[in-house]
Amino acid sequence: MQSTLNALVAKASTELPALKTRPEFEAAKARFVGPNGELTALMKQMGAVPKEERPAMGKLINETKAQIQVLLDAALRTLETAEIAAQLGPAVDPTLPSPDAGPGTYHPLTLVREEMCRILHKVGFSVADGPEVETEFYCFDALNTPADHPARDAQDTFYFPESARFGNVSKKNPEEKYLLRTHTSSVQIRTMLKGSPPLRIVSPGRVYRRDTSDASHSANFHQLECLYVDKNVTVRDLKALLDYIFESLLGAGTKTRFRPHYFGYTEPSFEVDLSAKHLPKVNKEWIEIGGCGMVDPSVFETVGYDPKVWTGYAFGMGLERLAMILYGIDDIRYFYQNDLRFLKQFA
Ligand code: DAH
Repeated sequence: MQSTLNALVAKASTELPALKTRPEFEAAKARFVGPNGELTALMKQMGAVPKEERPAMGKLINETKAQIQVLLDAALRTLETAEIAAQLGPAVDPTLPSPDAGPGTYHPLTLVREEMCRILHKVGFSVADGPEVETEFYCFDALNTPADHPARDAQDTFYFPESARFGNVSKKNPEEKYLLRTHTSSVQIRTMLKGSPPLRIVSPGRVYRRDTSDASHSANFHQLECLYVDKNVTVRDLKALLDYIFESLLGAGTKTRFRPHYFGYTEPSFEVDLSAKHLPKVNKEWIEIGGCGMVDPSVFETVGYDPKVWTGYAFGMGLERLAMILYGIDDIRYFYQNDLRFLKQFA
């Protein structure tokens, strides 16, 4: 019996370290210690061993079992190490120069954003920033958007649960909810509350709406907001600025037109269309690009500016839409797919 046990250990110590795969390991384990394995078969022979030899024999079998278990554990560890190494692939030397020596390029949305900020900077606008997590006050109430306005509906706006807390975004009143801003117009309010007139800001940034994604919709996209507050500002100033920025971005021959509209925070309000027939792939005469108007006196009252003294204009537009016109892109989803074949075209 003893020599059979020794032979079994010897066999295990040559076979187990040579295993290459998990199925091989499982099969070997079954062969040695499984219910139909060799060790189990030897244990079953204990009945035939004379009574006085049984304790010594039992001890021997237990020792053998322990030795085989050590060999099994070691074999499993070797297999696991090999599996991880196979997943990681060949060793990487992080000190080697990158195989792709090309410099990175800017995303088309970054290019349009930066170009618009540069164009606006030339005429005195400075960049203002605001949080993407907003409160109802900055996104809606202060912008004269009543509680029952459809834009505030949970179908259109992403609200956070009551329990959400954002230490860096302060609430005006404790009852209001946090949300993902639906437009960059909230930055108008934050800027006016922080500073004092006259002021001239441009605020590009990401906004969120509960939209199903298709060729022209995305649940998050980018806008560019402008606000100008000064004395004696007129619709004519607003139109002149829009003509200037779109002609600067899209080239000579670009035109804008206003269509009357309603926004709670401007009076009068307009939707802005632009025409850029000289651009390849622009096959419509007029393309809607954003909204604008003269800052509503009630907004000035909310931020503590005297509406008898101060006037101003504001506008907001979609950056994706602008980039699509400029570069002839026909599907908004290209912006977010990180496909190098698309991105490299803007290098
Ligand atoms: N916030 C509007 C939107 O997201 C766009 C807009 C309209 C911005 C009029 C303005 C404005 O500043 O005055 O559709």
